[in-house]
Amino acid sequence: MRELTEKARAEIAAAGSSAQLEQVRVRYLGRRAELPLLLRGVAQLPPEQRAEVGRQANLARRDLEALIAERMETLAVGEMQGRLAADAIDVTLPGSPTVPVGRLHVLTQTTRELEDIFLGLGFTVLEGPEVETVHYNFDALNHGKTHPARARTDTFYLSNEVVLRTHTSPMQIRAMEAHPPPLYVVIPGRVFRPDSDATHTPQFHQIEGLAVDEDITLADLKGTLLAFARAVFGDERQVRLRPHFFPFTEPSVEVDVSCFQCSGSGSMRDGSRCALCKGEGWLEVLGAGEVDPNVYSAVPDTERNAPGYDPEKVQGYAWGMGIERIAMLKHGIPDLRLYFENDLRFLGQFG
Ligand code: DAH
Repeated sequence: MRELTEKARAEIAAAGSSAQLEQVRVRYLGRRAELPLLLRGVAQLPPEQRAEVGRQANLARRDLEALIAERMETLAVGEMQGRLAADAIDVTLPGSPTVPVGRLHVLTQTTRELEDIFLGLGFTVLEGPEVETVHYNFDALNHGKTHPARARTDTFYLSNEVVLRTHTSPMQIRAMEAHPPPLYVVIPGRVFRPDSDATHTPQFHQIEGLAVDEDITLADLKGTLLAFARAVFGDERQVRLRPHFFPFTEPSVEVDVSCFQCSGSGSMRDGSRCALCKGEGWLEVLGAGEVDPNVYSAVPDTERNAPGYDPEKVQGYAWGMGIERIAMLKHGIPDLRLYFENDLRFLGQFG
């Protein structure tokens, strides 16, 4: 009996799980185990042994039962804790899978960056219609009846009088009709031309600028664009104006920014030609000029519309720049079509 209980005690102590302990219990206290059989056989023993054997076997059984119950409790608590730890949910962790967060398209980012720069210089942001009349898109902007941009091959006509605007410049007229001078506005927006190749897409974006006040000169234009160039391309930049022609400005200029890759020298440290400016040292970024007096004359001086655009009294400058081009230069984007292909590997690189 002693031997049996010692062995049982050792196995109870060694049981590593409630399932193992249950096996130990069946082995020692189960219906066909030695101790219960002994207890059941007490009646068959000689009378003088019955009391003593019965007492000891009962003691042993109760002893083992108590031990098993105690050990079971310990194991159950440990197992419960293990399950709780394994099941633990940290409600403060982000949801899984993490929800992908979108971002603004690089052209939207660039547009907003440009708006911020000009807002900082005192300009107001306006927007205008993408479907425009021939009057605002061409006539009021001093395009002669035979100007080549009017050709059906260069402009999307919706009817003889209605086009998809080919530039943001028509908003110059609409802005002046709505607001008297002084006027300082920028107009970002989508424009359309029937072009499609590696450097042209039928839809692209411009940001127009218009400042009308008294005593405005090309020097004001240059100072404004220098501030823009430095804000976008770095504090070291310079700008230069080259003579050009636009129907709605006189004089007209093309504006270049000194190349930020070669610092305007046209060549790299190792002597090779700068690939960004093709050795020029300058990057062409926009068209501009002093507003042509004929443009002011196209702004009707009526009760309803804002008066005051008397070409004898006001001067102003205007510019138009391509937003795709600014972002391409700034980020080294090699192909215009990347903007519109919606490849997340490209779009995900910005912002
Ligand atoms: N509208 C011209 C274009 O799309 C760009 C431009 C040039 C706008 C000179 C202007 C300007 O306001 O003064 O090519």
